[in-house]
Amino acid sequence: MLNVETETVKKVELKHKALIRLLQQAYSAEKAAAFAYRGHAASVKSYIEKVAIRQIENDEWNHRREVLQLMRLYNVPVSRFFELRFYMIGKVISAGCHVIGRFMPFYFAGSLESGNVCEYFRMRQYFNSMGISEHDELLYEMGMKEKEHEVYFLGKIKDSRLLPFFERFFSWGKNTSKNNIDLDKKYPFDRSEHYCRKD
Ligand SMILES: [Fe+2]
Ligand SMILES: [Fe+2]
Repeated sequence: MLNVETETVKKVELKHKALIRLLQQAYSAEKAAAFAYRGHAASVKSYIEKVAIRQIENDEWNHRREVLQLMRLYNVPVSRFFELRFYMIGKVISAGCHVIGRFMPFYFAGSLESGNVCEYFRMRQYFNSMGISEHDELLYEMGMKEKEHEVYFLGKIKDSRLLPFFERFFSWGKNTSKNNIDLDKKYPFDRSEHYCRKD
């Protein structure tokens, strides 16, 4: 039987610099993304697109909450530097959406989402390297949600004449992704170890 008087709940300390940094960065970058999508939603004319982008903004706020829970679990502090940096990035992009036309906000959102997918799978790999697998499903779901965002944004510009040009310069588009996930051939979380593996 547990002795409640002597038993204290101890938080596990993460001895993994790259993971700590990734958690801190993801937490702040989710805020930048949410701000950016608020501006993006306000800048599009279509009501359906506004609703879809607002939903994506909500997804990012949810991600931020989920990352914070993980950070609290392992005593990882919020980085003031990242918070300030991504606050400014988010606000600048948010305002920029109103002046750079229709194509670029969709394009760069999709490109960013494409890179974000692997952040969550990399977190999972880092946790697993320390023998921690209890967050596998959560991190899989978060990575997959970013993939859905990428696919949404790509769908909005896939027929644009600008896309081949941007794809060549910024290495993202119809034929180039920053992750190896195909939503049409989705692997369940317990068979998805090969996602975002560098080796
Ligand atoms: Fe996110
Ligand atoms: Fe996202």
